[in-house]
Amino acid sequence: MNDSPTTDIPTSAAASLLAGKVVFVSGAGRGIGAAAARLFAREGAKVLLAARTETQLKTVTEEIRAAGGTAEYVVCDLADPASVRVGVKRALEVYGRLDAAFNNAGAGHQPGPLDQTPEADFDHVYRVNLKGVWPAMAAQVAAIRTTAGTGAIVNTSSVGSLAGNSALPAYGAMKRAVNSLTESAAVTYGPEGIRVNALAPAPHSPR
Ligand SMILES: NC(=O)c1ccc[n+]([C@@H]2O[C@H](COP(=O)([O-])OP(=O)(O)OC[C@H]3O[C@@H](n4cnc5c(N)ncnc54)[C@H](OP(=O)(O)O)[C@@H]3O)[C@@H](O)[C@H]2O)c1
Repeated sequence: MNDSPTTDIPTSAAASLLAGKVVFVSGAGRGIGAAAARLFAREGAKVLLAARTETQLKTVTEEIRAAGGTAEYVVCDLADPASVRVGVKRALEVYGRLDAAFNNAGAGHQPGPLDQTPEADFDHVYRVNLKGVWPAMAAQVAAIRTTAGTGAIVNTSSVGSLAGNSALPAYGAMKRAVNSLTESAAVTYGPEGIRVNALAPAPHSPR
């Protein structure tokens, strides 16, 4: 996807969609997460960018600030639930509230049929793509409840979760489980005003 920074932060944040909102974005150092963080900031949100690579987080944060937006970052590893909780808590420390979260960070694995998928790859995509979403959502629900009161959480799944996936079987399985975790969270927290959804991107295909 086009990962180039935009510079059109609105002059009147009050007129924009996310004015006054605080949004946590994981996987924000590059790709979809970085693009989303820029877009949220352009719509007036204060964003907290999370990923493991500090240089990338710093670059995107500085781009957003240079364009007039408000951004901070936190280094956090989705494979470590304690690190995820610290990452989400950082939103409260720097901004004093949380309104929304985009749990977008994800990892792939060596492509191939499941009998050739290395166990270490299976375990890694389990820890990052599935298990990592659980402490993130739990911490985010708690943070939204005690500050904004209501809000929204969006998890990144994949079209690779929607059918048999012979090239990325472990990835597809974890993303399909994310769909289930998302739906369970949606029916659990929706009634109190915390909406939970997932999106399923497809790889960009050249025209
Ligand atoms: N691009 C596609 O075609 C496509 C299609 C379907 C679904 N998706 C999904 O969309 C999401 C974003 O994809 P993308 O293409 O933008 O990926 P990307 O360019 O590779 O970026 C992934 C982001 O996630 C972060 N990340 C990876 N492992 C992490 C970990 N253990 N802890 C914290 N952050 C971690 C990466 O930063 P660090 O490595 O620095 O931590 C990076 O910021 C993923 O969930 C992916 O599965 C993408």
